[in-house]
Amino acid sequence: MQYTRLGTTGLEVSRICLGCMSYGEPSQGTHPWSLDEQASRPFFAQALDAGINFFDTANVYSLGSSEEYLGRALTELGVPRDEVVIATKVRGRMRPGPNGEGLSRVAIMTAVDDSLRRLGTDYIDLYQIHRWDHRTPIAETMEALNDVVRAGKVRYLGASSMWAWQFATAQHVADTNGWSRFVSMQNHYNLLNREEEREMLPLCADQGVGVIPWSPLARGHLTRPWASTTDRTATDDFGRTLYGTVDCDAEIVERVAQVASNRGVPMATIALAWVLQHPQVSAPIIGATKPHHIADAVAALDIELSDDEVTLLTEAYMPHPVVGFI
Ligand SMILES: NC(=O)c1ccc[n+]([C@@H]2O[C@H](COP(=O)([O-])OP(=O)(O)OC[C@H]3O[C@@H](n4cnc5c(N)ncnc54)[C@H](OP(=O)(O)O)[C@@H]3O)[C@@H](O)[C@H]2O)c1
Repeated sequence: MQYTRLGTTGLEVSRICLGCMSYGEPSQGTHPWSLDEQASRPFFAQALDAGINFFDTANVYSLGSSEEYLGRALTELGVPRDEVVIATKVRGRMRPGPNGEGLSRVAIMTAVDDSLRRLGTDYIDLYQIHRWDHRTPIAETMEALNDVVRAGKVRYLGASSMWAWQFATAQHVADTNGWSRFVSMQNHYNLLNREEEREMLPLCADQGVGVIPWSPLARGHLTRPWASTTDRTATDDFGRTLYGTVDCDAEIVERVAQVASNRGVPMATIALAWVLQHPQVSAPIIGATKPHHIADAVAALDIELSDDEVTLLTEAYMPHPVVGFI
């Protein structure tokens, strides 16, 4: 395994982060394709065996059960708490009614304690805002986040998909008040959606913010022929909104297959190697639902794509609508 510092922090993370959205009670929340606790368990052990120390979940994934699975697995596997980096998120709706979602002071104070309880830990390494909250002033959010850091409940702050101007504004509010700022950006970046190259990735480079892309394999589209389907694709409603809106997507997938075939490696390994080579990317957050997925991801660390391969993989790209957070 390779390790890197997250952005300009001193925090060392594996260059592959295991996304835990695939693990959670299927009947809870919006991911009917997720694996139940028994089916999920081997992936945590496999990740640890591969040297992965970085795990990403969210309070809203399968309505809290993803956090519970992760926390229980790490405890039962006997992993010393300081040997893993646990990232989770706040923003999504956890219950009906007022204050059941968002980034108000009350929502954050409740959510952080709930996440700590579900994860079975007394601190979160990286606490991320899952989206922008249009109804709460950003100063209220940043002050509450700073307070959970000062209280020792959270070590670092991160953000997820939003407009670059919003991210810059949030950092400015934190800086102006001497509050903790975001050290990472978890955004949507892969060969089928490269819109973040316009504003967000240069902003992160300028600000020393580590980038940890979500769905680096385009939720599986970059791992198999375009028309194929799986149990997940059949019920992944959010995933359906993200891809196939521009004609070039199928062509790019075909090119990934070509490069993979030339090298004799899985398509997933090539698609991930491309994300990993971006200088601002600290660690892509991968999803794994079959035994070979983690090994295929780790193998990407050993691949250095040639200039010709990069050209082949990228030259067919056409601008895409901005999706996934608006
Ligand atoms: N911040 C956000 O808003 C946000 C949004 C989305 C995700 N995330 C985070 O990012 C993580 C990863 O998301 P994701 O699962 O969409 O990521 P992904 O890595 O793009 O897609 C994972 C899917 O790709 C397929 N796959 C992976 N490796 C493969 C291989 N070697 N061969 C064949 N197929 C392979 C599997 O599809 P099948 O299961 O269909 O076989 C797997 O479920 C999540 O767990 C979560 O932590 C965050």
